[in-house]
Amino acid sequence: MFAEWRLKRGVPAYLQLKDYLKEMILEGVLAPGVKLPSTRELSRLAGVSRNTVILAYQFLEDDGLIETVRGRGTFVTRITTGRGAGVTLHWPELLTDHAVLATELDIEKTEPRWQKGMISFKSIAPDPELFEAEEFKKAFLRRFALEGKKLLNYGYAQGYRDLLNYLRNYLKGKGVPMAGKDLLITNGFTEAFDITLTALTRPGVRIICENPTHNTAIKIMRLHGLEITGVRMEEDGIDLEELEKALAGGDAAAVFLIPSYHNPTGVVMSPEKRVALLKLLAAYRLPVIEDGFNEELRYSGSHVAPLAALAGRGNNIIYTGSFSKILFPGLRIGWVLADQELISYLESIKRSRNIHTSFLDQALLYEYLQSGRFERYLKNARRVYRERHKTAVELAKRYIPAKRIWGQGGLHVFIELPEELNARQVLAESLKRNVIFMPGDIFYTDGGGHNTFRLGISRVNRDQMEEGFKIIGEVINGLKAK
Ligand SMILES: Cc1ncc(COP(=O)(O)O)c(C=O)c1O
Repeated sequence: MFAEWRLKRGVPAYLQLKDYLKEMILEGVLAPGVKLPSTRELSRLAGVSRNTVILAYQFLEDDGLIETVRGRGTFVTRITTGRGAGVTLHWPELLTDHAVLATELDIEKTEPRWQKGMISFKSIAPDPELFEAEEFKKAFLRRFALEGKKLLNYGYAQGYRDLLNYLRNYLKGKGVPMAGKDLLITNGFTEAFDITLTALTRPGVRIICENPTHNTAIKIMRLHGLEITGVRMEEDGIDLEELEKALAGGDAAAVFLIPSYHNPTGVVMSPEKRVALLKLLAAYRLPVIEDGFNEELRYSGSHVAPLAALAGRGNNIIYTGSFSKILFPGLRIGWVLADQELISYLESIKRSRNIHTSFLDQALLYEYLQSGRFERYLKNARRVYRERHKTAVELAKRYIPAKRIWGQGGLHVFIELPEELNARQVLAESLKRNVIFMPGDIFYTDGGGHNTFRLGISRVNRDQMEEGFKIIGEVINGLKAK
């Protein structure tokens, strides 16, 4: 019976023994009614102490899997698992359109995957090497010592109070008027956007956004059944003439914009355009969802105010944010700042879905942010990413025969090739040479972008960029020559 039994390090022996016996009972190897060895005998067979066996038997008895009959011994009980007829459902017949579409749009499943040994320009996740793990650990211990038990209980849907206060100040510091506004903590931008669309849109209505735009945003808009009108990007932001035409249609329910370090183009909308944009939008009285996700990067020293700051005292801007691209995306913490009345609805939607974002995570993030380390971290992260972006543009110019290299910054560079080239072909050939990146078409709302791709640069060094870009350049030149 203990032929395959091996004790692993790091897990208490009684738990291992309990799990081992449990599996044998559930699989029927130890059938109901079978007498188990005495604790003394099993301790010898398994090579563990008698106490270990006694504890394991106690837990199995608590689970109702064995019973001890005084004077007779320990027996497997008459459990019924695995004894039914067994029902096999055919999931494709049962799944909703939502489930099917979510799977179709799941680029983690549909796009080529990174494999060991590849140079990857696929991701735009922050560089974990920059994370101050020790500082975060200290923050964890400090906050846990202060409030541990409280943090493990239920909290409030709106968010952890101290973090809410910190963010209020933080956003005020960006010049955003706070009168009449409130905040909701969400699981990243992704949930903030999803909840906002749930509150403000119905299937079939129109939403206007930049084209290209953040792929996850496209996925969420499509899952809400929205008609997406994507508006062309220019080097200083969305094309206002085209936007005006889209707005003039009169049937849009909302506008979604990423004004700073736009994904995927890396464009920062110019201050003049921001002002003109707000003027135009004001005439249409629509909710404007602003994604400020990468503002913290501010590569150039100059301050570009978010639309939420420029818009003044109205209530049409719904300002979402997240530290996901600079700080700990794994914590999944983002927020929405909007009119109090709207936030109250968003809060209830949030509560109905997942009660609240993890209080432990929010409290730890707060502790780290308020410790003063964040500013220093940000300073360093900005410098590193600025350098990396500069290097990437330099190397892209040298090696990649692009029609245009987009963007003023961000954790990526967006490449537009001449029309006759297909970026998916470039990707297929590059993959053969162990280089991977994101094809641009996944960011387009209208099936466009066949000649574009995005190079994520947050987690590669200069040598990898040089080697990778050279290969991509050679592939492109090879395809051009055909
Ligand atoms: C445009 C944009 N907004 C927000 C995010 C961050 O989303 P989240 O906060 O859900 O991680 C990303 C991440 O790639 C993004 O590209």
